[in-house]
Amino acid sequence: MSREDVLAIRTYLLAQPPISQPQPRNILPFPFNQRWTVALWKLANLHTGSFTPDRNRTAAWNRGAYLVEVLGHCGACHTPRNATFGMDEDHKLAGGTAGIWQAFNITSDKIAGVGGWSNEELSRFLKTGAVPGKAYAGGPMAETVMNSLQHLSDDDIQAIVAYLRDVPAQSGDEKQPRFSWGNAATVDGDAGTEGMTQGSGTAAGDDLYRSLCSTCHGANGGGSSDGSYPSLTRNSTPGAATPEDVAMTILEGVKAGDVAGRKSMAAFGGWLDDGQVAALANYVTARFGNPDVSVTAADIRQMRAGSTTGQTIMVLAAQSLVACAAVLMLGLLLLLARRLRRRTSSVRLMSAHRDRR
Ligand code: HEC
Ligand code: HEC
Repeated sequence: MSREDVLAIRTYLLAQPPISQPQPRNILPFPFNQRWTVALWKLANLHTGSFTPDRNRTAAWNRGAYLVEVLGHCGACHTPRNATFGMDEDHKLAGGTAGIWQAFNITSDKIAGVGGWSNEELSRFLKTGAVPGKAYAGGPMAETVMNSLQHLSDDDIQAIVAYLRDVPAQSGDEKQPRFSWGNAATVDGDAGTEGMTQGSGTAAGDDLYRSLCSTCHGANGGGSSDGSYPSLTRNSTPGAATPEDVAMTILEGVKAGDVAGRKSMAAFGGWLDDGQVAALANYVTARFGNPDVSVTAADIRQMRAGSTTGQTIMVLAAQSLVACAAVLMLGLLLLLARRLRRRTSSVRLMSAHRDRR
């Protein structure tokens, strides 16, 4: 950050009323609850120095780079992590995670990224979080829009778009753009438009969808005509190559907050069991989104617990790494102690020999 911006934030923080609040307990699993390990992380991943504008680029591009890379830290969610949990800069903005949520690839790739969006659509998404026919911001992206991006000036939004356009394309698992799945949505009308959507989904999913979701999203997933209840076809969340965001939307709902014209969606996690959430998510992706994507009840149970299989494996791997390192250290210490003992006993032997002579 520029020195000016750091000082401005400091001035703002110091002007806030003081609040006395006890420190929350550290609930991270070992070894992540060890503060000193952050020093090791910094060795591998901290890049110091300040942002230097590129003289060969326009002022808007440089402003966009500063907003995306520095102040907006879009990469904290949208860039994948390397083996030491730093941002993998070789795959900048190629898709990462925010808790369970998948923060999609937003590079200029036409299939896996947002290369197929118009400038106008991108600006509208950043400013409002809702672009009918492309995407709606749920989960952590809804928070980003609500708390932050909606307050940016139009110039800053356009600067971000100019920079995003130029982020090198990175391909992914998508076979076609996330927003392109599902047949053209018919505006809600329950009557016999069978065959308008691609797959069918299970009967259990169909029952649940009709009773819980169709009032807002339409029997054929077309949403409401003004787009305030989103269409589930031509929507990047059901069209993604991963099922997490659809499942999390059902579990947590969408808090669109005070952003102009947007409505929120209630959370269904409290009164559906894991099997029902899985049936619904699979029905939504099969009929309206990417039919290759599915989840199991066991996946949903893990999501509710706040982790994915990958994250559980990561914690276990880190713990076994620490255990291996500890065993190795112990082995080395034992070896060293043995050597010392052998040396002192041979010294003693030698001096006994001398005394005898
Ligand atoms: C706290 C995490 C987080 C941050 C920070 C964040 N995003 Fe996102 N973003 C997400 C998630 C999660 C999604 C997927 C939302 C969904 O499924 O509804 C997303 C979706 C998007 C999409 C839509 C992609 C698509 O194909 O649907 C765009 C564009 C985007 N973000 C741009 C940005 C930009 C630009 C920034 C920085 C100014 C940013 N995001 C910062 C988490 C984040
Ligand atoms: C009361 C109306 C209502 C009901 C009922 C409802 N939704 Fe929603 N849904 C919404 C709104 C509003 C949004 C978010 C609009 C926005 O982001 O601006 C949304 C968003 C979504 C999204 C897209 C989220 C994203 O990040 O792109 C999915 C998927 C979804 N709903 C699925 C469902 C499913 C499945 C059900 C049934 C369990 C359901 N909805 C029931 C109103 C509703």
